[in-house]
Amino acid sequence: MSATRSAAPASGHGDGPAEPATARRSPALTGRVRVPGDKSVSHRALIFGLFAEGITRITGLLEGEDVLNTAKACAALGARVTRRGPGDWEVEGAGANGLSTPAAPLDFGNSGTGVRLMMGAVAGQDVTATFDGDASLRRRPMKRVLDPLTAMGVEIVDSAEGGRLPLTLRGSAGTKAITYETPMPSAQVKSAVLLAGLGAAGETVVIEREATRDHTERMLAHFGADVRVEPHGAHGRRIALKGRPTLVAAPVDVPADPSSAAFPLVAALIVPGSDVTLTDVMMNPLRTGLITTLLEMGASIEVVAERTEGGERVADLRVRHSRLRGVEVPPERAPAMIDEYPVLAVAAAFAEGVTAMRGLSELRVKESDRLAAVADGLAACGVAHEVQGDDLLVTGAATVKGGGPVATHMDHRIAMSFLVLGLASEEGVSVDDVAFIATSFPTFMPMMRALGAVIA
Ligand code: S3P
Repeated sequence: MSATRSAAPASGHGDGPAEPATARRSPALTGRVRVPGDKSVSHRALIFGLFAEGITRITGLLEGEDVLNTAKACAALGARVTRRGPGDWEVEGAGANGLSTPAAPLDFGNSGTGVRLMMGAVAGQDVTATFDGDASLRRRPMKRVLDPLTAMGVEIVDSAEGGRLPLTLRGSAGTKAITYETPMPSAQVKSAVLLAGLGAAGETVVIEREATRDHTERMLAHFGADVRVEPHGAHGRRIALKGRPTLVAAPVDVPADPSSAAFPLVAALIVPGSDVTLTDVMMNPLRTGLITTLLEMGASIEVVAERTEGGERVADLRVRHSRLRGVEVPPERAPAMIDEYPVLAVAAAFAEGVTAMRGLSELRVKESDRLAAVADGLAACGVAHEVQGDDLLVTGAATVKGGGPVATHMDHRIAMSFLVLGLASEEGVSVDDVAFIATSFPTFMPMMRALGAVIA
């Protein structure tokens, strides 16, 4: 990669010393900030750039470790990846059939999205590649991607127990097109199958019972593929991709990540007197479940200047401290807010009454078992809660004691969520390790401090 900035060693944080931090009760948070680019769109922009003919210009790319690892993998598979300035990247594609076998194992660090999408990308190519990651990623299930990919013809040359990382795949330009109904709502699984389908002769179809984030489908169309998306059942979709398209480089302007905006957003809601504006936040309806829920809880979130930029809805969000009340969060909303439950649990800790979050089984297979990690963190901070099967029930209170240290389990969103809780707590909250925040939101600390947060 001819990038001027290289990613940190992909698995480095797993081995390095933990970096503890403490968030303290803070004065009103105020200001206007743009959180970094969307992680899902950033990964995909690089991967589509790899497949495209020509030079893909990406602006607003998230320069977090997860995405930088994907950039390195694209370079190792044959793209020329160049960083021109902050968030400003160019990918000279290898072309639809031009991927090459990488010289060394591809290390995706902490990123499930990076590794699962890239397994799909390699599946339809005459390429053999080894995929690896840090201790958290090595624990996560890969079978959900390997099942459809092997049905399409990819060969698992080697893997750790249960199809886990490290694993080696041999792709094939003769990939078979399949029709696949995803057994769990997962944009990563859907995307892996569609990316593998780029190499297949016929039509690859993915059916999902519950619609998940659709950035892959949107980007396929943006780069010139023939992709049709139709409703399927009450909440689902059917996506059909015609194989072997010529993908043509297209510019991608990455909007601000709603999953990162969630942290200053909830912080502003729970710290008295706060008034914060978050700019350019992506408002794709398959990502706005948290905003829907918080509005139901009585949050003051003003959606300002909603507009379309680069094919996605974006808006500025003005958020003011609010009195929240507990609500029922239905299971069918989970895909639209899957990464936001930890920080919703923090908002719920300050709400009047019970917030019941239903159907959270997918939280158990994230960067950590997030259901357990959130429950343990709430316990450490004196927040009443209960886990009932796959449901989490949080009983809010006017004051929250705080405490810790909260164990973050190599999980960026657990670290950020409990630091946010600390800002409105009586005694502050300490977390055991903030190093992993760099995977998705490298500017979290300075940005929160600029708003007035006290984090040491
Ligand atoms: C992502 C999909 C989600 C989400 C992850 C990003 C993506 O995972 O949790 O942070 O970019 O496709 P699943 O598809 O496994 O639910």
